Amino acid sequence: MVNGLLPPGGARAVARCDLLGRDPFTDEAGLLFRPWLGPGYHATIEALSAWMREAGMTVRRDAAATLIGRYEGTTPDAPALLIGSHVDSVRDAGNYDGMLGVVIGIELVERLNAQGKRFPFAIEVVGFGDEEGSRFPETMISTRALAGVLDDSNLHELRDRDGILLSTALLTAGLTVPGLNRARRDPATVLAWIEAHIEQGPVLEAEGQALGVVTAIAAQRRYEVKLHGRAGHSGTMAMPLRHDALAAAAEMILAVENATADGPDGLVGTVGALRVWPGVVNVVPGDVVFSIDVRAGTDDIRNRAADRITDAIREISARRGVTAEIILRQELPAVHCDPALDRLLGQAVREVTGTAERRLVSGAGHDAMIMAHLTPVSMLFIRCREGISHNPEESVMDTDVELAIAALERFVTLYEETP
Ligand code: HGY
Ligand code: MN
Ligand code: MN
Repeated sequence: MVNGLLPPGGARAVARCDLLGRDPFTDEAGLLFRPWLGPGYHATIEALSAWMREAGMTVRRDAAATLIGRYEGTTPDAPALLIGSHVDSVRDAGNYDGMLGVVIGIELVERLNAQGKRFPFAIEVVGFGDEEGSRFPETMISTRALAGVLDDSNLHELRDRDGILLSTALLTAGLTVPGLNRARRDPATVLAWIEAHIEQGPVLEAEGQALGVVTAIAAQRRYEVKLHGRAGHSGTMAMPLRHDALAAAAEMILAVENATADGPDGLVGTVGALRVWPGVVNVVPGDVVFSIDVRAGTDDIRNRAADRITDAIREISARRGVTAEIILRQELPAVHCDPALDRLLGQAVREVTGTAERRLVSGAGHDAMIMAHLTPVSMLFIRCREGISHNPEESVMDTDVELAIAALERFVTLYEETP
């Protein structure tokens, strides 16, 4: 499985991500969809576990099914530098979002182990299972559990789009909802979180940079909006009498665009998911559920745009006689990466690329946003073609991934040398 064909390094890392983008590591034939705790997720964990062991790590899964490979330091039970990202994916995903950060961590440890290099700290490679929130309405449950910030009070009734309870999904890993918080890490056992990730934007490519250092991660909010109007016969229900939930949703979706289209930079609003009931050609839609994702460089800008959006939803629903339930599903404040870690990562990038590091804000969300509750965080961005992501055309260059592994190797050494 890839091992014998390529030597350790950037090309093998990319090839491994490509391998994991296909059956049996996906839940849908012909495209990559790896939701948390699905069959593709479990197969992927098995493959990553084997690679981690070959790299010289011991492997375990925590109480939230998070995969953790550990490369011991010079003393047993030393606190650990955590390096990783997420192994789940959106639907019809690219091969590198999340997964590349985990595979790069394995490549790094294999390289250190081959040199017999050990540090006064351990290195743990971590693969979180639900960063995308592509299965359950809540997201980063496994990350929150490890970081010790999981509120499990409403997880018992959490269901995925097929109606499967989270508790049922956890049973596939022999785990339970009440047990999730046993994943909580003692902060004293963790030194920092370092996440390598594709940029998912066009900046590095536009400026001819292979790598970048993330200074901050944008604030985001996710809502679920449930509209209830009145279903009716499309041939006999007169237009003035209608309470058409889909027409109301259409007006609300444009309100999301209007509330964010005029900036400032970094302010974005998206309706990515929508379900119509009953969803047949000759019935006026009675019910619609849709998502809202709104983000901005600061909490204040995000909050003001979100208020404009929810005000518009209430006005439209009142005018159209369609009830609207607005459920806040996720609220993530903007997160600043640790300046000291960023300085070391910037120095490592300069040394391996020979150019000054590009520092930039991430519009995409990452596990680092949650890990920042537990420990200082830093992120290494890797150029991706045309910034394409959440799309099977996602693409990275082997040489850039090789540079990322070299930068992390240099970072670890600089980190050891820093008092
Ligand atoms: O939505 C995000 O930014 C990330 O891909 N989960
Ligand atoms: Mn993503
Ligand atoms: Mn990601």
